[in-house]
Amino acid sequence: MAKAENEIQSMLSKGMDPKELPWYEPTIDEIPEPAKTILENYSKIPSDRVLQHVVDVRERAYSVFPYPCIGSFRFLDLSIPQSPVYAEVLQRLKSGEKLLDVGCAIGQELRQLVYDGVPSENIYASDLRRDFFDIGYDLFADHETLNCNFIVADIFDSDSELVKKLTGKVSIVNAASFFHLFPWDKQVEAIKRVVTLLRPEPGSLLIGRQAGRTDPEDPDDKENAPGNYRHDLATWKRMWEQVERETGTRWQVDSWREDWQGVDKGFDKYHANVESFKLRFVVRKL
Ligand SMILES: C[S@@+](CC[C@H](N)C(=O)[O-])C[C@H]1O[C@@H](n2cnc3c(N)ncnc32)[C@H](O)[C@@H]1O
Repeated sequence: MAKAENEIQSMLSKGMDPKELPWYEPTIDEIPEPAKTILENYSKIPSDRVLQHVVDVRERAYSVFPYPCIGSFRFLDLSIPQSPVYAEVLQRLKSGEKLLDVGCAIGQELRQLVYDGVPSENIYASDLRRDFFDIGYDLFADHETLNCNFIVADIFDSDSELVKKLTGKVSIVNAASFFHLFPWDKQVEAIKRVVTLLRPEPGSLLIGRQAGRTDPEDPDDKENAPGNYRHDLATWKRMWEQVERETGTRWQVDSWREDWQGVDKGFDKYHANVESFKLRFVVRKL
């Protein structure tokens, strides 16, 4: 289990009600786009019921594990369609290439892809917790229709179904709010796993976003290494240089910062003492 999760677990074991954790919002004023359109047009939830439906299903997801992204409704801020390479991603998946959403939780990104015309058979999604998959089916009302391939797997398990089925097979990996769960060394390990899941040819892509921060911790200070390392653009690049050295592969690393907005705004109350931003990335194999 990642140390960030241990920290949340330790708050819970001290008797803290998950709803008292700083990121928990009891409800939301409105569902942001494009999530609203997907729930209305893809899931066919009547528009006057969408908000209550989301709040109800979100409660169930939060009881599986009280992640900040679930407690703050940040999962409604879809990452994939905001990527500058989204048009390329759609075109490649429609031509038969395969995408993996790693640490997908309830799988909101997959629904966007399917809504935009990607055959669901070309989409793989993995997570540590199967319960999130079932909750995702209920949220998007697509148990009977969605043919994405869901795989329960720990990214650090070299014997997992993920490794057995997908090593060298996917062209695109999406990772949203994922690597930041782990300390530096585990992030390197997780990224190396992604490197081996991707097809070993130029053009393979890793896209996504995560919480970043200004003035990150010194990666060389192992004694005080944080349980969930937050990068700025320089440390993210530095991590990739380490991955390149250790895997003998080369990558073009594009990353940039964006402000938290909308449903994101309340997210970083957990780290209120640091200046936080959304770190977005497109990493392409050379
Ligand atoms: C913060 S959530 C992000 C979910 C989703 N990608 C999003 O953007 O809303 C992180 C997800 O990673 C999963 N996870 C945590 N540790 C993992 C591990 N070692 N291997 C695979 N998945 C893991 C969690 O179960 C959770 O669903």
